[in-house]
Amino acid sequence: MVYPTLRIGKHQPRYPLVQGGMGVKISGPRLAGAVAKAGGVGTIATVGLAVDSPHYKGRNYFDANVLALKDALAEARAAAPEGVLAVNAMVALTDYEMHIRAACEGGTDVIISGAGLPLKLPEYARDFPDVALVPIVSSTKAASLIIRRWEKQYGRMPDGLVVETPLHAGGHLGATKLEQVTDPALALEVVVPELSAFLKDEVGLDIPVIAAGGIWDRADMERAFAYGASGVQMGTRFACTVEGDASERFKQAFIDAKAEDVVIIKSPVGIPGRALKTPFVAKYLEGDVTSKPCIANCLAHCSYRNDRSAFCIAQALVDAYQGDFENGLFFCGDNVTKCTRLETVDGIMGELFGA
Ligand SMILES: Cc1cc2nc3c(=O)[nH]c(=O)nc-3n(C[C@H](O)[C@H](O)[C@H](O)COP(=O)(O)O)c2cc1C
Repeated sequence: MVYPTLRIGKHQPRYPLVQGGMGVKISGPRLAGAVAKAGGVGTIATVGLAVDSPHYKGRNYFDANVLALKDALAEARAAAPEGVLAVNAMVALTDYEMHIRAACEGGTDVIISGAGLPLKLPEYARDFPDVALVPIVSSTKAASLIIRRWEKQYGRMPDGLVVETPLHAGGHLGATKLEQVTDPALALEVVVPELSAFLKDEVGLDIPVIAAGGIWDRADMERAFAYGASGVQMGTRFACTVEGDASERFKQAFIDAKAEDVVIIKSPVGIPGRALKTPFVAKYLEGDVTSKPCIANCLAHCSYRNDRSAFCIAQALVDAYQGDFENGLFFCGDNVTKCTRLETVDGIMGELFGA
């Protein structure tokens, strides 16, 4: 198979594949290190790393996150000294700037950032010019806004763009309204060629466009390359691996999931998210918004904190990571139905890129 070379700033993985960042602690150092070692970009999600880290003493969540992120990067780097490592940081976090600075100081190669527009990312990473900066977008309009702002304010351009389609992806979706989740104009086969043409013809920028959402096997990947992607990002499939950092019960929930278990919810961040209909999520969808207490004011905008119209998402994601099916929020892509067994990172990479 001939596949594109993925070059993100100064970094070039062996294969054009990025493992998507998955919080809370679904993609930690073990998964990221294994993927980077196997030749892809291994990504640590920064959100909530403090939880169950030795640094967290109950009142120092933000400082503990910084220390836990640096530990995680060191652990992943030890597993893949020559590999390409990324950090995924959500713009929506209160301590977003601290995550970016810690990621740079901790030695990440790439920062991938979404759940909001990362308009200030170049400012926070400015002392580390070798760290490649990759916004996540769902439309050409969002990419254009980021590019214009970065150019005007910082004289810097993105080193790549992840296009994540709300039609299939797991986690928070790049849509402000629930209807947009099914908008065919946001399909990868529409946005990837449109964005590639925009970058080439209107901006004159030669950076990789990485397709994310609903990519599972080699046929999906080749389709993405055929419509112009230079790489793919995959989340759900990597969550259900031996190396995945979540508990075994989290992974079993993926294996057990059926199509009717996958739902769209309005997240406390204010945007839609795709997740499993656990008992907790089913109650939320029916209007029952009981929540465990807020962990640490982790979100800049939080509809649990504001008016109690949602729940503490950090707590619900921690419950999922620990495998509490009753109370957890299990984010997943709609291809979670294809998880039928626990895989290994090497097994997936071999199937995707082997002879
Ligand atoms: C459990 C889970 C958690 C996720 N958490 C994050 C996150 O913290 N930040 C983010 O940018 N994307 C997050 N995502 C999205 C993934 O990084 C990835 O882009 C997406 O899952 C790709 O679609 P796929 O799952 O169909 O492969 C998450 C996805 C899943 C399944």
